[in-house]
This record gives sequence, structure tokens and C-alpha cells, in this order.
Amino acid sequence: MEITWSSRYDTGIQLINEQHQELFGIVDRLRRMVQEGAGRDALEAQLGDLLACSRRHFATEETYMRRFGYPDLPQHVSEHASMLTSLHELTTKFQESHQSMALMVPTFMEGWLKHHISDGDFGFVTFLKAHNLA
Ligand SMILES: [Fe+2]
Ligand SMILES: [Fe+2]
Repeated sequence: MEITWSSRYDTGIQLINEQHQELFGIVDRLRRMVQEGAGRDALEAQLGDLLACSRRHFATEETYMRRFGYPDLPQHVSEHASMLTSLHELTTKFQESHQSMALMVPTFMEGWLKHHISDGDFGFVTFLKAHNLA
């Protein structure tokens, strides 16, 4: 089944929405590639894109949160860091030739994104809006 962004994840901040949409798009492309039996190099490149895009997105959010003194910053940053650790571990296992790991990434990422946007990102977006910062 397709992995897509929906208006349920609308934060009201265009840049954040665009980055979330990009992440959903990369994850869905990865899902499709795995299903269609894409080769190792193509999957590895897609996993690399996912890591890079995640890092970029987290840096954007953390810049916003730091700039405006978001009180739950440490918790939010640690959620980002532990996601990157998990994604790194899955990618490393994939590179060590456990090809099945590529299949686990879209499932893991879909769950993580939906949960983190609803629970984590909405928290700081609400804070920004309450302080007329967004
Ligand atoms: Fe976040
Ligand atoms: Fe986010």
C-alpha cells in the first residue's frame, strides 16, 4: 500500500510540510523499489537519499526550535537522533548483505514518521504558533 503524506500531518508551516512530503515520497519510492526487486546499488542509493533528507529535515526543525527557545528541545532532538541511529543500523545491515533489511526500512519509517509528526512535531509547531512565531 502506498505510503503518503496526508492533510492529517499538516503543520501549517510550508517548509516543514514540504520536507515531510519529500520524506514520505522517498520512503514510498523505496517501498516500490523493494517490491519490484530493484538491485542492490539502486536500493543503497535510495537509502542514502533517505538518510540525507532526514538529516536535512531534522536540522531545519532543530534550528527553528533553538531559535525560539522551545522547552522540549532536548527530548525532540533525542527522538531525531535515535531515528537516525536506527536508520543507520538498518542501512549497515543491508550493506552487510542482509537484503531483507531494505524491506524493513519503509515499514519502520512509515510508523516513525506518522507517530513523530503527530506527537513530536505538532508539539513544537503549536508552541511556535502560540508565540506568534509561525
Ligand atoms: Fe521532528
Ligand atoms: Fe518533522
